[in-house]
Amino acid sequence: MFDKNVVIPEYYEFFNSVKVISGYKALETIPFELSRLGAKRPIIITDKGVAQAGLVKHVVDSFGGTDTVVGAVFDETPQDSSNVVVNQIAAIYRAQNCDSIIAVGGGSAIDTAKGVNIVVTENTDDLLKFMGNYRLNKPMKPFVVIPTTAGTGSEVTMVAVIANPEKNVKMVFTSELLLPKVAVLDPRMTASMPPKITAATGMDAFTHSVEAFIGTQKNPISDAFAAAAMELIRNNIVTAVTEGGNKDVRLAMANAALLAGLAFSNSMVGIVHATAHATGGVCHVPHGIANSILLPYGLEFYIGKSDKSPKTKEYIESLLLHVAGPEIYVQTPPAERAGKSIAAIRNITSELKKLCGLPVRLSEAGVTEDKLESIAKTALNDGALSFSPVEVSFEEALGVLKAAY
Ligand SMILES: NC(=O)c1ccc[n+]([C@@H]2O[C@H](COP(=O)([O-])OP(=O)(O)OC[C@H]3O[C@@H](n4cnc5c(N)ncnc54)[C@H](O)[C@@H]3O)[C@@H](O)[C@H]2O)c1
Ligand SMILES: [Fe+2]
Repeated sequence: MFDKNVVIPEYYEFFNSVKVISGYKALETIPFELSRLGAKRPIIITDKGVAQAGLVKHVVDSFGGTDTVVGAVFDETPQDSSNVVVNQIAAIYRAQNCDSIIAVGGGSAIDTAKGVNIVVTENTDDLLKFMGNYRLNKPMKPFVVIPTTAGTGSEVTMVAVIANPEKNVKMVFTSELLLPKVAVLDPRMTASMPPKITAATGMDAFTHSVEAFIGTQKNPISDAFAAAAMELIRNNIVTAVTEGGNKDVRLAMANAALLAGLAFSNSMVGIVHATAHATGGVCHVPHGIANSILLPYGLEFYIGKSDKSPKTKEYIESLLLHVAGPEIYVQTPPAERAGKSIAAIRNITSELKKLCGLPVRLSEAGVTEDKLESIAKTALNDGALSFSPVEVSFEEALGVLKAAY
């Protein structure tokens, strides 16, 4: 599965405590899982698009004939969730005597639910006090996540990103305590995802696995998860877009996104996510679309800096095995492998562009040229950049954005 470039670091840590339940009837296990955690009155946190697709109904129906009673449903989570919404949901949780949280949705609903868990566990009205790394101490409320996009992997990550509209910044909360107790992957929950969201969120997961595989904190465990994720996505993303109702393919993509989440939650991401976060912040480009556009350009940047980090180029050579498959890998001379890895990624994104209009350039995603400097400036302050294998200057970040424009 791996080539010679995979080495064991002198020291590393890997952690994940989430119980994963994956399958065609996975939803039906939730009442049992809640009861094991001493809970039976969950609040369901979701958004309008997910509720309108009938997905909350699937969840509630699966509780039939059990002790589990839905305490409340909040379906107004906005795309960029904020501390204001988190506090509003926490008030509903308390008023309805809920004892647990179920997130049903993509990264937006899941991260909001993580924020609510902080507020109700810490019994506070001020989420902001807990911003930053490792500020939480109390065991959290029972928390089950049902992802409805196959993208962020937030169901297994210890991070929540929540906006603070007053200060116009995105706040990051990191703690092992934020990890859900259970992640439920059920293909009924992603079957309704429209083609373009399927492509964009799938490419977010692909970017997690690629950046985890070449990142500074990579290790044999994150490599194994990242490689499995890349292979599943390579083999399934196009069919997920063209045959949304194909349950096997949906389950494969859901597993891929989770595997990529396990990988990057430990080995982190780099310049692609830093510039993608900034593109989202400045121009409101959806997270998966920004990553999909910027991924090949970020990798080209790393190759151009191989004098500073020769190892990174070797890792990009090794990527070929996972993004293109063993046949192409063995047929390609080592000196051509890095370039071929990027070409293989471009093949996937240009196919997705043809099938569902996924943009491959920033100019196609609503970004205007006059915004590039502001995006580059914002990217330099993004936490992901501290994990880039090479230092990135303002001019270099701008160069990547101009190339992708
Ligand atoms: N915490 C983490 O580890 C982490 C990692 C990456 C990204 N994120 C965050 O996640 C957010 C993005 O999440 P996302 O990409 O999953 O998208 P999302 O949650 O914003 O959902 C996108 C849209 O798809 C719709 N949708 C979702 N599932 C659907 C389904 N099955 N059928 C029909 N419609 C559906 C939603 O209603 C919404 O309109 C960003 O805010 C990003 O910052 C968090
Ligand atoms: Fe991401």
